[in-house]
Amino acid sequence: MSAGSETVRRLTVADIGRMYGDGERLPMLTAYDHPTARILDEAGIPLILVGDSLGQVLLGYDSTVRVTMTEMLHHTAAVVRGTKRALVIGDMPFLSYSTPDEAVENAGRFLREAGATAVKIEGGVRSARIVEALARAGIPVMGHIGWTPQSQHGLGGKVRVQGKSRETARALLSDAVAIQEAGAFAIVVELVPEQLAAIITSRLRIPTIGIGAGAGCSGQVQVVTDLLGLGTFTPRHARKYADLEGSIRAAAEAWAADVASGAFPGPAETVRMEEATLDEALGRTLDDRAAPGRVGATSMVDGLPAGIPLDRDL
Ligand code: KIV
Repeated sequence: MSAGSETVRRLTVADIGRMYGDGERLPMLTAYDHPTARILDEAGIPLILVGDSLGQVLLGYDSTVRVTMTEMLHHTAAVVRGTKRALVIGDMPFLSYSTPDEAVENAGRFLREAGATAVKIEGGVRSARIVEALARAGIPVMGHIGWTPQSQHGLGGKVRVQGKSRETARALLSDAVAIQEAGAFAIVVELVPEQLAAIITSRLRIPTIGIGAGAGCSGQVQVVTDLLGLGTFTPRHARKYADLEGSIRAAAEAWAADVASGAFPGPAETVRMEEATLDEALGRTLDDRAAPGRVGATSMVDGLPAGIPLDRDL
């Protein structure tokens, strides 16, 4: 169903569950602003995540840990306003869900103030009690296991694939099950070997949404700027489907060149008025119109071209 049709309604977690049950592979993209969200929604993307990747992708921070609730709510509200059908998920920022009470309070703000339908939190077993509190409060929650950027310092600082050893693979399986049992409706699985992600997926009854986790997940998520070629770095797990960086640069250079040469604006971008009305407004005669120099001046008064009232005289 296209988002432009009359019957469009916002997808719910039950719809996502049905799509998963029907064997559909679920695409999810991040968005941070109104125009991008509108385009993704019209393109039929069912899940839009306002990721805290916002920090690096849009705000120029060096990590996601700097992102605040205020910033997340601001951008989530813009994305919700831009969409009619997609289920919008607000990513809870670092330290906004340290206790169940704090999590419910802040998650509630994503729903109440920004209009999101669900929230996402990072962490497996350690976050299960938070997922449980949110689910009990009636807040749909998506988990996030594997590489969890908010814990980057605890995970050794460097972005790396998780779950490659016997112990860490078993821990990831426990994480996935704990988050499901706590009541999450889906789980992002980030930077996990393909085989392990596929096994996690097969052991769950909720969808896994993979990023850098192979094709065996129930769905896939990408940071939209990676997909669009907007940014200086494309991670190995991403594929560029457009070169917006090149397009934007070329457009800016072409426009600046047109401004420099006088080719912009042209008649198509310019409004004109009746010359007779302008004559009246300026007290200008037909002779004044034709005269060179300052608009309409035919003689000099006090060292200035005369015939035209100056702004201060009007
Ligand atoms: O913040 C984000 O964009 C994310 C995705 C990478 C899943 O968490």
